[in-house]
Amino acid sequence: MTKKKVGLIGAGAIGTVLAEAITRKLVICDELVVFDVEGSKAEKLRDSFKFPIKTVSDIDELLATKPTVIVEAAGQGAVREYYPKLTASGAEVIIMSTGALLDLQLTPKVHFPAGAIGGLDALSAATNAGINEVTLTSRKNPKALGKTNTQEALIYEGPAEEAAKLFPREMNVAATLALTAKPAKIQVRVISDPQVIRNTHEIMVKWRYGEMQLKFANQPHPDNPHTSALAAWATIRLLQNLLNPASTTII
Ligand SMILES: NC(=O)c1ccc[n+]([C@@H]2O[C@H](COP(=O)([O-])OP(=O)(O)OC[C@H]3O[C@@H](n4cnc5c(N)ncnc54)[C@H](O)[C@@H]3O)[C@@H](O)[C@H]2O)c1
Repeated sequence: MTKKKVGLIGAGAIGTVLAEAITRKLVICDELVVFDVEGSKAEKLRDSFKFPIKTVSDIDELLATKPTVIVEAAGQGAVREYYPKLTASGAEVIIMSTGALLDLQLTPKVHFPAGAIGGLDALSAATNAGINEVTLTSRKNPKALGKTNTQEALIYEGPAEEAAKLFPREMNVAATLALTAKPAKIQVRVISDPQVIRNTHEIMVKWRYGEMQLKFANQPHPDNPHTSALAAWATIRLLQNLLNPASTTII
């Protein structure tokens, strides 16, 4: 039988949760191949888990191992740099840094998880009937936004595409919504609020036959306050769907 191999770009907060899920057999595969520009991070991850983990030192070496699925958990810059090689590789590709996808051509083997939010099934269903309005209000602690304000402050209001560019580490959620609701436009508000600990995303959709209100209050990842813990678990679910479809029932 062909070996199932996961390629991972980025051994940070999300990459580490993913490696742990593979080690715990939540995701069934034979080998994990890890590439991080900071080689020591990939090595630390390899040495932390009792599972076949191979480290490689560049994207070409990663692709040469012929992974079944490649997960990008590195950053928007990494997506822009490696996208042509990733899409030409024939592997299924999961992109976490969805902001970069706004300017790229999606192909059938490119997937993105719902990440720090959910409800994309309903949103994408409504696009067929017609969406009138989508607003996203994200409220985060200043630390999670790289800010130091001591009072609540509206730090951004505008389109999702610009939000994902101005906050490449924090507002991939806006890009995920924009990619899902296309051609509808998403209006985004980002609030830096010292009173909140959780990363909160409120989504309001008005569409042809009704309204949707979705709210997510996510604990930040302990190693990276910019990232919501839910994002890593959404990736694990998507990996299960691609690698072990019989074991999963929901999208
Ligand atoms: N879609 C979503 O809802 C969602 C939610 C949370 C995070 N994210 C995004 O996922 C990505 C990963 O998040 P994280 O919390 O694990 O980040 P992190 O900063 O903890 O880890 C990123 C790792 O990638 C490595 N890296 C950076 N550039 C690289 C490159 N060009 N090639 C190889 N390795 C590189 C870094 O050295 C680091 O170890 C970020 O872009 C983040 O914004 C998306």
